[in-house]
Amino acid sequence: MAECATDRLILALDVADTAAAERLVAATEGVVGVYKIGLEFALAGGIGTAAALARAGHRVFLDMKLLDIGNTVAGATRAAGALGAAYLTVHAYPQALAAAVGARPAGLSIVAVTVLTSMGEDDVAAAGYADRVTALVDRRIAAAVTAGADAIVCAPGEAAAARRSGLTVITPGVRLPADAAGDQRRVATPQEAIATGADAIVVGRPIGASADPRAAAERYLAAIEEGLALRRAAASPDGAPRSI
Ligand code: C5P
Repeated sequence: MAECATDRLILALDVADTAAAERLVAATEGVVGVYKIGLEFALAGGIGTAAALARAGHRVFLDMKLLDIGNTVAGATRAAGALGAAYLTVHAYPQALAAAVGARPAGLSIVAVTVLTSMGEDDVAAAGYADRVTALVDRRIAAAVTAGADAIVCAPGEAAAARRSGLTVITPGVRLPADAAGDQRRVATPQEAIATGADAIVVGRPIGASADPRAAAERYLAAIEEGLALRRAAASPDGAPRSI
């Protein structure tokens, strides 16, 4: 379990090829504690890079957002562990979570994705859910707890509710004021996210697409430190940030 602020900065390697990922890792080493490989890069050589990063001692977050029949989710979870991943995301549906938690090897944390941070009320309704976003998030946090997941991914605005679950809280949808929101709809600053209950943040484009990724990562790291100070000063009843 790590305690440094760098371990609370998860960089999304949302790149098109291995060379671009290697450049981003080299540029941010020592500032970023966890590298996240998602679907775009996974389908463009990213799984090999994930294994190489893990072998080199980096913590790897496999953002596969699994949702499939239990047998397949269990097999994918074992494969993620064998690859050396530290985190694996699974959509917070009870069946999928139970399968992942049941197959979880030592050293791999199962991270439950509540509701994508790009989704607003209209998207949730269009997807056929009667629940409002917050009710759906609460339902999925409860599913994560029941299944025995290790962590929750949610929007910063839901971090306080997620925090009460006792699980580690990870929030994407985080932006410094100078950075564009892109397609993220439920955004907050890193300071707000950490102060209200996030233990770690996921940042992609503001660092990866920056002309100077290291300087951008340093700005996010400084913002995390400020958030941690705010959280300590608030002496929240939910306690100190969790180790991640
Ligand atoms: O570029 P940006 O900072 O918006 O990237 C956020 C990253 O977090 C992306 O890799 C995205 O897939 C991921 N993510 C998210 N919302 C979730 C779960 C993961 O944006 N609920």
